[in-house]
Amino acid sequence: MKQHDWIAILDFGSQYTQLIARRIREQQVYCEIVRFNTPAVELAKRKPKGIILSGGPASVLADGSPSVDLAIYEMGVPVLGICYGMQLMGRDLKGRVRPGKAREYGSATISVTDPDLLFKDLPNILEVWMSHGDQVEELPPGFSVLAKTGTCPIAAMADRKRNLYGLQFHPEVVHTPRGVEILRHFIVDACGCACNWKMSAFVEESIQAIRQKVGSDHVLCGLSGGVDSSVVAALLHKAIGKQLHCVFVDNGLLRFKEAEQVEDTFGKTFGMDLHVAHAQDLFLGRLAGVTDPEKKRKIIGATFIDVFAEEARKLGQVKYLAQGTLYPDVIESVSPLGGPSVTIKSHHNVGGLPPDLQFSLIEPLRELFKDEVRELGRELELPDFIINRQPFPGPGMAVRIIGEVCKDRVDLLQQADLRVQDEILKLSNYKDIWQAFAVLLPVQSVGVMGDERTYENVVAVRAVQSLDGMTADWFRLPYETLDRISTRIINEVRGVNRVVYDISSKPPSTIEWE
Ligand code: XMP
Repeated sequence: MKQHDWIAILDFGSQYTQLIARRIREQQVYCEIVRFNTPAVELAKRKPKGIILSGGPASVLADGSPSVDLAIYEMGVPVLGICYGMQLMGRDLKGRVRPGKAREYGSATISVTDPDLLFKDLPNILEVWMSHGDQVEELPPGFSVLAKTGTCPIAAMADRKRNLYGLQFHPEVVHTPRGVEILRHFIVDACGCACNWKMSAFVEESIQAIRQKVGSDHVLCGLSGGVDSSVVAALLHKAIGKQLHCVFVDNGLLRFKEAEQVEDTFGKTFGMDLHVAHAQDLFLGRLAGVTDPEKKRKIIGATFIDVFAEEARKLGQVKYLAQGTLYPDVIESVSPLGGPSVTIKSHHNVGGLPPDLQFSLIEPLRELFKDEVRELGRELELPDFIINRQPFPGPGMAVRIIGEVCKDRVDLLQQADLRVQDEILKLSNYKDIWQAFAVLLPVQSVGVMGDERTYENVVAVRAVQSLDGMTADWFRLPYETLDRISTRIINEVRGVNRVVYDISSKPPSTIEWE
């Protein structure tokens, strides 16, 4: 396999570490975030073209603060320390670091005193983002100052001979407007990386890595039909073919024809070993008579585990469980004193399997961001309707049917939702909508159809824009779209005579109604 140029980012726990990775990959250079204490010999085997020491919340002056294997400075590979990383370099290479009296946090202006390399072709005065306590007070031998601020005489430093660089500020954040250029100078001019990394290379490299890890063992993958699990399944299938077994739980609470689409795509088109658990009756049976939102969620979560576990037991002999964990799901990638501790979001459906089912995890998307996962999906030739799919909650339609959930109401909501999906897909700004869906209310209202009085259901339409689902604003759908959605639902879906539009934002509302 061709080895691509890559940069290793040693993570000291900064909230910005993932942004460094992102900025580098935007330059079409592959990078990976690794533990801060990865031994130099281990790194050397994988031949990175450069090493970045990230920022972090600790102080290099504190006992037990996270440190690097000192041999990394001797590897002959360029090293860039950012914030904590620079202070570490200052301390390790026999300069002097001064404890900060107060944390300097916010915008600052630096004067570049040596524009060679990192600051090449940039103005002498630059706006940067600072977030640090300590600072390097005395340069290590061999280093010179590249930039300073009024309060920080060594805001950037370098030892050109040894190819070691330090930045006291954060070039990776948007508040350092020219930061990307500084990073690019490091990865291109100092490290000599070729900017030619593409998602296809990631596919190749992941496939090799998966094959090596799995060997002749078998892997189980819970497929939900969402983007992340679909991409994981497609990637694993490409890597290990029949050693992959996918389980899809049809809980009867999915979107219209979703189960069939998943079977068609993954079972028929891709030819995967797909096990569909037809558990509609079980789910709906356990939900009968339940109206409390939290009770519904708990019943669905527990039933999901029961069904999934049963399918896993039937398969026998499976060593690995594949999960679509993405970079933003990997919280707390490092703790200052211990090793990295990884938590998987609690809403991940297969988090709480029974003790007799213990798997090792495979998480091939751990290094990626959502938009990169979509790009990977395209590379793996997944259909657009899967790649561009909006998030869909684990408990599905059950949290969009207010009150009791039963088959008739699921059918009705699926039909209403189908019209919402159909109409918003026609919008040129479809991709700006985080989620759009219909909600079935436990309310009936009076209407008139022809000469007849009707007394039927009310459907609410919800569309929001959001960056991460944590906050959201109601989406300004065009009146014409709202009009078509309303007319179509009322005319085409039996049992609905009124449509309303939800104009609340999160907070204080939430995206889903339950
Ligand atoms: P809320 O309703 O809390 O939703 O504003 C935020 C985002 O999370 C999705 N959501 C879920 N996703 N399992 C999931 O996988 C769940 O139980 C769940 N509940 C809400 C919701 O669709 C929105 O994108």
